[in-house]
Amino acid sequence: MTLDTLRQTGREIQLQANELIVSKTDASGHITYANRVFMKLAGFAEHELLGMPHNLIRHPDMPRGVFRLMWKTLQDGKEFFGVVKNYTKNGDYYWVLANITPDYDHRGQLQGYYSVRRKPSREAVDTVTAIYAEMRAVEARCGKASAPDASVTWLVDTLAARKQNYDDFIHALINASAGARA
Ligand SMILES: Cc1cc2nc3c(=O)[nH]c(=O)nc-3n(C[C@H](O)[C@H](O)[C@H](O)COP(=O)(O)O)c2cc1C
Repeated sequence: MTLDTLRQTGREIQLQANELIVSKTDASGHITYANRVFMKLAGFAEHELLGMPHNLIRHPDMPRGVFRLMWKTLQDGKEFFGVVKNYTKNGDYYWVLANITPDYDHRGQLQGYYSVRRKPSREAVDTVTAIYAEMRAVEARCGKASAPDASVTWLVDTLAARKQNYDDFIHALINASAGARA
C-alpha cells in the first residue's frame, strides 16, 4: 500500500458556491501566498504552505498529462483552465475549477503564477472523472517518462474525434459550472 493510499479517507469536501481559493507561486511552483479559504478548506496553516511546492496537495487520481498541459500553456505565456482534484491535509479531497495565470512584474519579467479556483458543477466533475480515469490508464501502460505526453495525446485525439479542442472542452465545463450549487 502506498503512502497515498494510506492517506486517502475517500471523503469529499466541498467549496461553497461563493468561495474562491487563491494562491500564488514563484516561477518554480513554490507557494508564496495562500488565502484563508485555501487554508481552511485544505486544512493547512500558513507556515505549512509558504515555500512548499504546489504539488503538496496533488491527488493521485490526477493524470500527469493535465499538469503537463498546464505547465506548457503557462510557459507559452497563456492562462490555463482546468478541473482539478486536490488533497486536504488529512486525506479528504475536493474538486476545483482552476484558472492559473503567469504573473509578470512591471518590466514584463515573470514573477511567478497566480491561481483562483471556484466550485465546479457536479456535471463538470463527472465529465472529468471519466476522462481522467482513461488518461491514467494510458499513463499506466507507458513508462513514467513518456506517460504525461501519451495521455495528453490521448486527450487531444479523443477531443478531436468529438470535433473539440481543449479550450472548447474546458469552456463547456466552465459554462456548466456557472453558479454551481452541486
Ligand atoms: C499557481 C499554481 C497553482 C497550482 N495549483 C495546483 C493545485 O491546486 N493542485 C495540484 O495538484 N497542482 C497544482 N499546481 C501544479 C503543481 O505545481 C504540480 O505541477 C502538480 O501538482 C504535479 O505535481 P508533480 O509535478 O510533482 O507531478 C499548481 C501550480 C501553480 C503554478
